[in-house]
Amino acid sequence: MGTVKTAQEIQAMREGGKILAAVLDEVVRRVAPGVSTLFLSDLAHERIFAHDAKPSFLGYQPSGSASPYPAALCVSVNDEVVHAIPSAKRMLKEGDIVGLDLGLWYGGMCVDMAVTVGVGAVGATAQKLIEVTRQSLSRGITAVRNGARTGDIGFAIASYVEKNGFGVVRDLAGHGVGYKVHEDPLIMNFGKKGTGEQLLTGMTIALEPMVTEGDWHVTIDRDGWTIRTRDGKLAAHFEHTLVVMDDGCEILTEL
Ligand code: MF3
Ligand code: CO
Repeated sequence: MGTVKTAQEIQAMREGGKILAAVLDEVVRRVAPGVSTLFLSDLAHERIFAHDAKPSFLGYQPSGSASPYPAALCVSVNDEVVHAIPSAKRMLKEGDIVGLDLGLWYGGMCVDMAVTVGVGAVGATAQKLIEVTRQSLSRGITAVRNGARTGDIGFAIASYVEKNGFGVVRDLAGHGVGYKVHEDPLIMNFGKKGTGEQLLTGMTIALEPMVTEGDWHVTIDRDGWTIRTRDGKLAAHFEHTLVVMDDGCEILTEL
């Protein structure tokens, strides 16, 4: 069951969400050919501390995972879908697409956000993949209101993505967020309208469609973290944290 947050807790997440959006925006501005993925993570780490917040992914270890996540930012390039570990040796190059996923603690609460951007000029398919993924998150957000079910969101996301000829990753999902990095409910990016857990006003959730250029199947690297497409084709990822309201929702991770 998802947990309903108090007005004070939501206010902390609203403030944390604005910090997160500002920090991620600063990171996006530094994306360029020749920049290492670790540089971006170190920048995110430093900017989070400058805002009196703390990174929530650094040291995060979900039950069943082999090792804690070692960085502040997930930097997933091209066929890497999510959770790729930043490295000083991994340089971005013109035409890459890069997913930037960041979370932080502020005022005792955590918030979560991701965007995908092109490095310099990217190909037409890559650009369309980014736009469809961004728009699929908007479709999902439109389905959120008091009384809606998680399947309504999944249906909104997957039907839009598949109509555009792309795939929806099945192995990872959106989630409740706030007291912990991941809380109930699980919010899959596909589903059937009218099924799944009901959302209630005051629940805080993260929606995060992961969309593939080709087949949606993924594999995990030997590092225990990096998720990549099985067919080696591109993937994109967008995420917002939001609070459910009577007649819609408020996006918390916005400037
Ligand atoms: N936004 C990511 C998710 O919900 C956060 C991953 S935590 C990390 O899956 F530690 F893996 F980075
Ligand atoms: Co998330």
